[in-house]
Amino acid sequence: MVGSDRSVGQSVNGVDLKGGSDVVSALHEALGDAVLVRPIDARYHGDWSGVGHTEPLAVVRPSSTAEVSRAVKICHAFGQAVVPQGGLSGLAGGATPRDGDVVLSMERMRGVEVVDPVGGTITVLAGTTLEAANAAALAIGLELGYDIGSRGSAQIGGTIATNAGGNRVIRFGMAREQVLGLEVVLADGTIVSTMNTMLKNNTGYDIRQLFIGSEGTLGIITRAVLRLHPVFRSRLTALCAAPSYDAIVQLLALVRSHTSGLTAFEIMWGELYDFMARGIGGSHPLEPGRPIYALVELSGDDREHDERRLEQILADATDRALVTDAVVAASERETRVFWRYREAELIDALPSIINFDVSIPIAHLGACAVACETALRTEWPEAHVFLYGHIGDSNLHLSTSVGSADQGLLHRVDRVVYDVVRTFGGSISAEHGIGTLKRDFLHYSRSETELDVMRRIKAALDPTGILNPGKVL
Ligand code: LAC
Ligand code: ZN
Repeated sequence: MVGSDRSVGQSVNGVDLKGGSDVVSALHEALGDAVLVRPIDARYHGDWSGVGHTEPLAVVRPSSTAEVSRAVKICHAFGQAVVPQGGLSGLAGGATPRDGDVVLSMERMRGVEVVDPVGGTITVLAGTTLEAANAAALAIGLELGYDIGSRGSAQIGGTIATNAGGNRVIRFGMAREQVLGLEVVLADGTIVSTMNTMLKNNTGYDIRQLFIGSEGTLGIITRAVLRLHPVFRSRLTALCAAPSYDAIVQLLALVRSHTSGLTAFEIMWGELYDFMARGIGGSHPLEPGRPIYALVELSGDDREHDERRLEQILADATDRALVTDAVVAASERETRVFWRYREAELIDALPSIINFDVSIPIAHLGACAVACETALRTEWPEAHVFLYGHIGDSNLHLSTSVGSADQGLLHRVDRVVYDVVRTFGGSISAEHGIGTLKRDFLHYSRSETELDVMRRIKAALDPTGILNPGKVL
């Protein structure tokens, strides 16, 4: 029952619908200009995956938790599907509406409420960007435990709803590990507050963890308390070229055995580095044309000590032929240049780029990556296949462009990659989530009993199925 009509002035499930004869009028009556009606600006039509963009029935932009609750209560009364939207930088279609869905955009719920230097926490409204929250933390000499490339757009609520990963997972874990407290609006509009600020709170079921990574299917996150960490005084970034993936794995083991300061270990296979080098132009930190490149970040408090340690590691790695060339960034600007190669933004300009985000145990990840590439090239000999990712976190990204990508083709490409990942015992999503794009393959990574538990949780919290229907399950 989506978008059904009600007669004027009716009360449904205890909600006074006032003058609203349909869900949009009822929302408008209750929330005024927080409600946008058709034609709806294209930016609300979907996420950065670019797939399946659709004009929603209406967009609600609440400014407070009470307004989120009112909007959801009305949608609940009408059996109206609601799709929560954060910064829309997701890549799995999780925030993309279907025809007739109401979008609930959190963009007006911005702001830092508390930054606590003693407890080491920050309390924010869900629509605050990751960048803004981190700026508030840095102002008191602390920082967030997670960071992603889309920090300027991604909102805290969205990063929690999708359990974002990113560049610091090897040290601090995923978003899930950083959340101390949450406020959530349930499918019937009830507000549940678990705004805990304590590191230890071992009191029964951990309700907040249910919502983290649920992609808006169990509740709508409105506020959060996150952990903060001391800012490292020294950060060193090295870019290394290596002869093979196996050499990279040995380099990782070497770094880990020499220092506790590893905060990122990222790699790019040669095809990506060379593509980025051509796009960026000019001179490059390392010459293109090597099989594989690693970006190694060490963080600590004593720069001179860390520099000696890194030099030692790179000398050892060179002696053992694990690394053929290496360069250490001499400035913040150079650090950003190194990361630019890895963040790989330029590949988005290729036609119909399809992004994968999979997990495979580190020792087997190289073989799996090559097997995926071979399988894609067997079917599409001209395909671009870029392999890169957060290898220290077992996380491979594969981006491919096989030409035009209509829905049928997309599914074929998915199947080719996920069939390989399945044979390696990997996961079809490491950090981007399931959304709609990976839903048909969820059973590759989850057993029938696990899926059954998920369905039961969904039915318990959202029995009429109005919260982000069609996503995840
Ligand atoms: C990255 C995004 C795609 O790591 O997750 O670049
Ligand atoms: Zn990533």
